[in-house]
Amino acid sequence: MNLILMGLPGAGKGTQAEKIVEKYQIPHISTGDMFRSAIKEGTDLGKKAKEFMDQGELVPDEVTIGIVRERLSKDDCVKGFLLDGFPRTIAQADALENLLADMDRKLDYVLHVNVPKEQLIDRLTGRRICPTCGATYHVEYNPPKQEGLCDKDGASLIQREDDQPETVKKRLEVNIEQAQPLIDFYQDKGYLATIDGAQDINDVFENIDEKLKDLA
Ligand code: AP5
Ligand code: ZN
Repeated sequence: MNLILMGLPGAGKGTQAEKIVEKYQIPHISTGDMFRSAIKEGTDLGKKAKEFMDQGELVPDEVTIGIVRERLSKDDCVKGFLLDGFPRTIAQADALENLLADMDRKLDYVLHVNVPKEQLIDRLTGRRICPTCGATYHVEYNPPKQEGLCDKDGASLIQREDDQPETVKKRLEVNIEQAQPLIDFYQDKGYLATIDGAQDINDVFENIDEKLKDLA
């Protein structure tokens, strides 16, 4: 199962990715998560990515393509993969086409989680994440059982640095600009599946699962 999960910041990619990988046991490859771990570890990659992420800008294509190339070459991707938040530019999409051709692999679906822009600011500013396991919550739409604590490991939840209102605004602008050309790119290739992301989290997953069941 070779999948891409696409959608604007806050559309619910990370939330749905957790459910997809749990059910289908494929690796979750989130470029955003990879950059955040590099920042935490203080690597050169992390230092470079941080400059752009803190501003709500995209990390340059050559850096991003490099880490995805390396990740897709790992053994666990043999059974498939779920790319989350990559590709985000046409240059990245072209690079991925070449990578997959070299690996003799083909995409099954590009799942585009579509949510009206007006709902995204609320989702992003109310998001809380677990610094230990990466689980995602929302203060109103998906609260943990105990306020401020992760359901899975009890760690204190935190807010992502780029979820401050000013950065959120910039991220949305930058990503909206890139989105339509990518949607057209995958529509033309016949991989695009648009999912209504403005429903309850479990209903969104049911719609995604409807598509994936036949592939498993
Ligand atoms: P990344 O980490 O990928 O962030 P993003 O695309 O901005 O997406 P988010 O993680 O913010 O949102 P999401 O869609 O995963 O939503 P979530 O499920 O958390 O990238 C961060 C940065 O890294 C980028 O800005 C860029 O700088 C860099 N980067 C990453 N990839 C790159 C690339 N390919 N090229 C260049 N740069 C790159 O949900 C959001 C909130 O809503 C949560 O609180 C959740 O609980 C809630 N929620 C989810 N679903 C629902 C629902 N159905 N109803 C109500 N609430 C919901
Ligand atoms: Zn946790």
